Amino acid sequence: MSDYKRILVTSALPYANGPVHIGHLAGVYVPADIYVRYQRMRGREVLFVCGSDEHGVPITIKARQQGCTPQDIVDKYHSIIKKSFADFGIDFDIYSRTSSKIHHETASEFFRKLYDEGKFIEKESEQYYDEEAKTFLADRYIVGTCPKCGNEGAYGDQCEKCGSTLSPEELINPHSAISGSPLVKRKTKHWYLPLDRDEQWLRKWILEDHKEWKVNVYGQCKSWLDGGLLPRAVSRDLDWGVPVPVEGAEGKVLYVWFDAPIGYISNTKELLPDSWEKWWKSEDTKLVHFIGKDNIVFHCIVFPSMLKAYGDFILPDNVPANEFLNLEGDKISTSRNWAVWLNEYLEDFPGMQDVLRYVLTANAPETKDNDFTWKDFQTRNNSELVAIYGNFVNRAVVLTHKYFDGKVPVNAKPEAVDVETLAQLPQIREAIEDYIEHYKFREALKEAMNMARIGNKYISDTEPWKVAKTDIDRTASILYTSLQICANLAIAFSPFLPFSSAKLQQMLCLDKLSWDDLGRAEIMPSGHQIAPAQLMFAKIEDAQIDAQIAKLQASKAAHEAAAKVSAPAPAKAECIFEDFEKMDIRTATVLEAEKVPNTDKLLHLKIDTGLDVRELVSGIAKYYTPEEMVGKQICILANLKPRKIKGIVSQGMILMAEQPDGKMRIISPEERLENGSTIG
Ligand code: 2FM
Ligand code: ZN
Repeated sequence: MSDYKRILVTSALPYANGPVHIGHLAGVYVPADIYVRYQRMRGREVLFVCGSDEHGVPITIKARQQGCTPQDIVDKYHSIIKKSFADFGIDFDIYSRTSSKIHHETASEFFRKLYDEGKFIEKESEQYYDEEAKTFLADRYIVGTCPKCGNEGAYGDQCEKCGSTLSPEELINPHSAISGSPLVKRKTKHWYLPLDRDEQWLRKWILEDHKEWKVNVYGQCKSWLDGGLLPRAVSRDLDWGVPVPVEGAEGKVLYVWFDAPIGYISNTKELLPDSWEKWWKSEDTKLVHFIGKDNIVFHCIVFPSMLKAYGDFILPDNVPANEFLNLEGDKISTSRNWAVWLNEYLEDFPGMQDVLRYVLTANAPETKDNDFTWKDFQTRNNSELVAIYGNFVNRAVVLTHKYFDGKVPVNAKPEAVDVETLAQLPQIREAIEDYIEHYKFREALKEAMNMARIGNKYISDTEPWKVAKTDIDRTASILYTSLQICANLAIAFSPFLPFSSAKLQQMLCLDKLSWDDLGRAEIMPSGHQIAPAQLMFAKIEDAQIDAQIAKLQASKAAHEAAAKVSAPAPAKAECIFEDFEKMDIRTATVLEAEKVPNTDKLLHLKIDTGLDVRELVSGIAKYYTPEEMVGKQICILANLKPRKIKGIVSQGMILMAEQPDGKMRIISPEERLENGSTIG
C-alpha cells in the first residue's frame, strides 16, 4: 500500500444494452471485488465505484430494432445488470448510471472546461451518412466487401473473416448496416483531443514509471505509443448521449468513450457530494481501474490525457486489465447468444454464486485468454470445493458435535504435527497478501485452497474418529487444531467466496472476521460453542452439466438457423455489361444422371446442350435424385473452363437458385425450349 491513505477502485462501466455474462464477471468484476473485499478486511479506506454505461450507438440501434426509446433499453438492462452484480456479491459502494442528471452535468462541465481552455482541436470532416435512416454512421455500422479476402459482410472497421483492420473507404460496395442504403458523405464538425501532444509524458509515465503494470497492459500501451498517437474525436453526430455544451453543436453528443470514464467521477460525486474530491484529487489516493483488455487504451492513454488536460485529478496507479474468457472453445458472443448469462446461471444453480466465483477466479484470463468449460466447472466444484474444502470443514464440525457437544475442545494433548500444520498458516497468509496486492488473484486463491488441502490432509492423517475410541484427549487436540484451521479458512476465502465464508463464520459462531486473525493458531478459545454443520458445497451431477451443454448447443443451432433464414446473401460489387456478355448461358436437357461414388453431394450428368452432348458434375445430390434429373430442362454456363472433379471432366455449370437457408432449386425456362437456346 506504500504511502497511500485510501484506495479508489473502479470497474469498467458495462454497456446497458444486454445482461452481463461470465466473461464480464471473470475479466473485471470478480477480481475487482476480491481486491476490494481484501482491502476492506485489512481495514483500509476503500471506495468501489461502478455503474451502467448508457450511451453509444449500439443502444440507439437496439432501440430502433425494438421500436422503443434508448431510455427504455437502458432502464431495462440497468436494473438487470445491477441485480446480477448484487446477486453475485459484487459489493460496490455505488452502482449508478450515465443517464443520471449528475453525470450529464459532470461530463458536460468537463468538456466545457477543456473547450474554454482551448484544449481541443476543432475540425470539419466528411463522414458517411445514411439518408434513409437520417444518421451519420459509425464505422461499425457500415458493411461491404473486404478488399483483402472478399468477405461480403466485412465491417467498416474490421473484417472478422480475415482479421484485417479496415476503414470504410476500403470496403467494396459500402452500405449502411441499418437501412441497407448506399452511403453518401456529409460535412460535419467535431472536437478532437490532441493525444499526439501528450505522447511524451505518457511515454515516461507508462513506459518508465509503470514498468510494474501487467505485461499485457504494458505491452498494449507500448505498441500504441510506438505507433504514434493521433488526435481523437470526442464528439459524435447522434441524438443520444450528453449534448455537446457548445453553441451551434445541436445534434451532437459527447463520444461515449469521452463521457463513460467521467462516470467514475460522477458516481463518486453522487455518493459523496461533500467529500468526493479527496478520492479524485489527493495524491495519497491510490486509483485502480479494473477493466477488460479491449478497454486498455481508453484507461491508460485517453482518460489519463483527459484528466491531465483538466488538471487537479490524480492518474491511476494501476490498470490490471484481464484478457478474455472464451466459452467451450468459442469466443463469447452476445449476438450469437454464446454465453452463460448470470441471471440464467442463478436460475439453474440457485445459491451457487461462490462456485462460479471460484471457477472463474481459478481459471481467470489474467495473462492470456482462457476457456470456461462446463466439465471443468463440475470438476472444480466436485473435486476441490466439495471434496477438499467442504469435506474438511464438515468433518471438523460434525466430529466436534459428536464428541464435544459442539464446543471447541481443550487442546489437551498437542503433538508436533499440530504445531507444524498450524505453522504453515502465517506463510499462506503472507503469500495471499502478496499475490492480491500484485493483482494475481488465481495464485492467491490457490493458496487459500492449499490451506484447505492442508486441513483436509491433517484430519485424514490424524483420524480423530479412530483416535476417539482410545484417546479422547488426543481427539480433543486434533479437533481443536482442525477448528482453528476452519476459522482461518473462513478468513482466507472471504474475499473470494463471500457467501460460503459467511456460512462458515455462522457455523463457527464467529462475530466478525478480521484479516489480522489470519494465520493465528488460536482464533477460537476452548469452550467456544459452534453451530451444527451445514453443507457448504453440493455435488454437481453429470445431468446438470449435460443440460448446460445442450442449452448452449441449442442456442448455437437456433442462431445458425436464424442467420440463414433471415439474411439473404449480401449484394455483390457492381459489374459491367461486358463481364456478363462473356458468359455463354444456354438451355440443355439432362440425358443421364447418377451419383458420383463415395460422395454425398455430387451427381454425374450427361446433357444435351444443342451444341454437343457433354458431361458435368454438379453438387445437387442433396436436392435432386438422379431419377428426378433425367429429362429435366436446365440452364447451364456452357463456357466455364472444364474442371476435373472426382476424376470426371466437368464441362460447364448448372444454374441454381439458393435460398438463404441453403436450399437449392434448378432454374428452368417457363416452357420447354430448343436445347442450346441462349440466355441473356
Ligand atoms: O467496454 C465496455 O463495456 C465499456 N462500456 C466500458 C466503459 S469503462 C469506462 F470508461 F466507463
Ligand atoms: Zn477480409
